[in-house]
Amino acid sequence: MNPIYEKLQKCYESLCTKIDFEPVVGLVLGSGLGDYADDIKVEATLDYHEIKGFPVSTVAGHKGRFIFGYVKDIPVVCMQGRVHYYEGYPMEEVVLPVRLMKKMGAGVLFLTNAAGGINYAFKAGDFMLIKDHIASFVPSPLLGENVEELGVRFPDMSQVYDKDLQKMIKNVAEECDIPLQEGVYVQLTGPAYETPAEVKMCRVLGGDAVGMSTACEAVAANHMGMKICGISCISNLACGMTDKPLSHSEVQETADRVAPLFKKLVTQSIIAIGEKIR
Ligand code: HPA
Repeated sequence: MNPIYEKLQKCYESLCTKIDFEPVVGLVLGSGLGDYADDIKVEATLDYHEIKGFPVSTVAGHKGRFIFGYVKDIPVVCMQGRVHYYEGYPMEEVVLPVRLMKKMGAGVLFLTNAAGGINYAFKAGDFMLIKDHIASFVPSPLLGENVEELGVRFPDMSQVYDKDLQKMIKNVAEECDIPLQEGVYVQLTGPAYETPAEVKMCRVLGGDAVGMSTACEAVAANHMGMKICGISCISNLACGMTDKPLSHSEVQETADRVAPLFKKLVTQSIIAIGEKIR
């Protein structure tokens, strides 16, 4: 058996000995949505370290656990704390949790993150619907022998972020009167923030926001045929766009400040999506 699939299967079996829950939506919680569990009718939680072989996040402020529960009546599994490439894990480990969510039964993947705005029309505290991404600066999670059990060798990438899900999220934002920007997310490795020259490069390439996660997860989820959507919380304008140096605490503070609105947008979107797909 392919070693990547074997590891996934082992994690899944380990999880199944502890949890009996079939999610419809897999939600990845970025900075600012860390305490999203408050909005969920929690059925169970499972710390990552309780799953044999599972990669465990080391970033301060990132809890590492799955939360299983209901948003209204939609069964959801949330990743509270993702694994980042900059922590030193190979890409196949970074995307293992997303693959696991699909194995549990989630057909929809809802990605969230904090990101730096590189579009001049954006300001700190904005939300951006991810329409597409640039992942060319990080290794593909699909490198190496293809895991046939998961998907094809050369997956199509023409519509990674599902058009119908985008429409639903836009409708929800409008109904809730939450301003929603749209754009292209660029993933870089981090962990250093970008230089002003790199920010300019991303903008010239067509990016609107930059971050250190998400696109690789979308690549793996697309490979498995999941329906994907994503929203970035623009926690700051990227380096060189203001006079101030950038700090993780600024990113966290802005994300925390707009978290209640971000949560509302995510919750109402999940309800809209859940009602549509059942
Ligand atoms: N750059 C990269 N990642 C980020 C940023 C940024 O400016 N803000 C939040 N995550």
